Amino acid sequence: MRVLLLAHAFNSLTQRLWVDLAAEGHDVSLELDIADAVTIEAVALFEPHVVVASFLKRAIPEAVWRRVPCLVVHPGPPGDRGPSSLDWAILEGAREWGVTVLQANEVMDGGPLWASRTFPMREATKSSLYRNEVTEAAASAVREALTKLEAEERPLTQDEAVVRARPPMRQAQRRIDWERDDTEAVLRKVRASDSSPGVLDEAHDVHWFRGFRAGVDGAGAPGALLGRDERGALLRKTRDGAVWLTHAQPTKAPVDAPEARPFKRPSAEVVRAELPLVPDATRRDIVATDVGAVTLLRFDFSNGAMSTADCVSLRDAFIEATRRPSRVIVLLGGADFWSNGIHLNAIEAASSPADESMRNIEAMDELCRAVIECTSHLTIAAIQGNAGAGGCFLALAADEVVARRSVILNPHYKNMGNLYGSEYWTYLLPKRVGEAEAKALTQGRLPLGADEAQRRRLVDVTFDGTPTEFVARVTEHARELAESPDFATRLELKRARRVDDEAKKPLASYREAELKRMHLNFYGFDPSYHVARYHFVHRLPHAWTPLHLARHRSDAWKRQQKLVTRDR
Ligand code: COA
Repeated sequence: MRVLLLAHAFNSLTQRLWVDLAAEGHDVSLELDIADAVTIEAVALFEPHVVVASFLKRAIPEAVWRRVPCLVVHPGPPGDRGPSSLDWAILEGAREWGVTVLQANEVMDGGPLWASRTFPMREATKSSLYRNEVTEAAASAVREALTKLEAEERPLTQDEAVVRARPPMRQAQRRIDWERDDTEAVLRKVRASDSSPGVLDEAHDVHWFRGFRAGVDGAGAPGALLGRDERGALLRKTRDGAVWLTHAQPTKAPVDAPEARPFKRPSAEVVRAELPLVPDATRRDIVATDVGAVTLLRFDFSNGAMSTADCVSLRDAFIEATRRPSRVIVLLGGADFWSNGIHLNAIEAASSPADESMRNIEAMDELCRAVIECTSHLTIAAIQGNAGAGGCFLALAADEVVARRSVILNPHYKNMGNLYGSEYWTYLLPKRVGEAEAKALTQGRLPLGADEAQRRRLVDVTFDGTPTEFVARVTEHARELAESPDFATRLELKRARRVDDEAKKPLASYREAELKRMHLNFYGFDPSYHVARYHFVHRLPHAWTPLHLARHRSDAWKRQQKLVTRDR
C-alpha cells in the first residue's frame, strides 16, 4: 500500500513506523503536520491508500479523513481520550497501559477501533515509556491495522461504556507540593512531565526535568536545596527523603540577554546557588562491572548526548577497563539511547559554540581512537537504545556491533546543517560496508532498523527483547567469545589488521581530513550547522518536510507519476 505518515515531527515512533512499514513492502512517504493546506496537498500528490498519523498535536483536516482512511496512533488503551494520556497514566500510577489505533472521524480519539495493545507500566519517564513500550506496541498495532485494512475488514465501533476522556494535564496537576508530596509523588510528577513540558517551579523560575530518588539524604525543610553533584544535578529535600533533579529550563530569558531563548541545561547551571558537592553512588553515569572474563561498561548519558567532559570520562573509563584482566569489553551505552554524538545543548550554551564544537569532537575522536587502538581486549558495541550521528560511528569503532532488534539507527550527520562528521567515520564505515554503501548511508539520511542495518553490514548481530533481556543475551554472547578456543587467534588477527591498516593510511590522517571539514562547518562562511543546531536545541517546529522524507514531493516521484498517468 501507499502509506503516508503524518506527524508533528519525525520522532522515534514515526521513524520506527517508517522502517517497519517499508520493510513490509509498503510504499512509505512522510508529511510533517505544518498546515492543513500542506497536508491536503500531500494527500493529493501521493494518493495514499492510508494515512498513518503517528504523532500529532492537532486534528487531521476533515477534507483528508473523508477522502482516505486515516489511522491515528493514540498512546492509551481503548476508551482513553485526550492529549495527556501517558501523563495521567504515570501520575495516577497505572499498572498497565496501552496503545490504540483508531480511524479518524469528527470525534477526537473517538473513531472506530482497528487494533490495540497493552503493556505493563514501568517506573520511567514519559519519553522513555514512549520510546520503548509505546513504540513497540504501536508498531505491532499499526501492522495489524494495515493488514486488516488491506483485507477490507471493518473496524470496531468504540464501546461508549469504557470511554474515559481526560483533559490536557496542566501545570496545576504537575505542581509539586513539597510539604505534602512524598518522594514517590514528586518523582511521578517529574516523570509524567519529562521530556515535555517539565514541572513548573515558580519559586526558582524554572521547569524541572529528570528526577531520581537520591541515595543520600540531608537536613532541611521539604523543598530545600541540599546540594549538587559533579554533573550539575541538584539535590532537593522531600518530606521523606531526597531527590536529584538533573535538568532545568528557565521560564524566561536572562535580564542581560532578553532575546535569548531558554533551553534545557544541567540544573546547577540554571539555578545558581552556593551548594555543597554531595557524592552519591547512585548518580554515576559510567559504571564498569566484571562478569567473568567480560567487562561491561555502562554509560548512560542523558539523551545520549556526550559533552566534552563525558567523552573524556568515558575514554578514561575505557582505558581503565583495558587494564582489567578480562578479555572482552562490552560498551553498553544506556537503555534509552546508546549515543547521539556530541552534546548540542552544551555547545549551544558555550560562550563560543564553534570552539566548544571543536573541543567536543576532539574529545569524541580521542574516545573512538582508544577503542579502535585497543589491542588488549576484543570489544563489542551493544546497542540497547537508539543511536544517531556520531553515536552510530562510535559504535563502529568496536570489533563487533550487536544491536537490539527494536533500535533505530541514524548513521549520518547531514541533517545537522550538513555537518561532515568525524569519529573516524571515513575509516570505519567504508571498511565495514564498502565505499558505495558508505555513500548511500551518509547521503541517504534515513533511519535504519536493526535488521536492515545488519543486512547492510553496519551491525553484525541482532538480539530481540527488552533492554534488560538484551543485556543478558549480550553478556552471554560476550562470555562465549571470551571463552572461545580461538579467542587468542582473533585477538592476534585484530592486532595484525590494525597494524596493516595503519601502514596503509594512518588513523591520524583520517582524523585530520575529517576535522578540516568540521573546521569549515564550525568556523566557515556557511552557518548551516549553527542554524540547524539552534533549531534543534530550541525544538523549533519544522517549516517544511525534507524532500528525502516527503518522497511524494521529490522530482523522482513526480516523474514516476507522469509515467503512470501516461501509461494509463
Ligand atoms: N545533543 C543534545 N541533545 C540531544 C542530542 C545531542 N546530540 N541528540 C538528541 N538530543 C536530545 C533531544 O534534544 C531530545 O531532548 P528532549 O526530549 O529532552 O527535548 C532528546 O535527546 C531526544 O531526541 P529526539 O530528537 O526527540 O529523538 P528522536 O528519537 O526523535 O531522534 C535523532 C533521534 C538521533 C535522529 C535526533 O535526536 C538527532 O538528530 N540528534 C542529533 C544528532 C546529531 O546531530 N549529533 C551531533 C553530531 S555527532
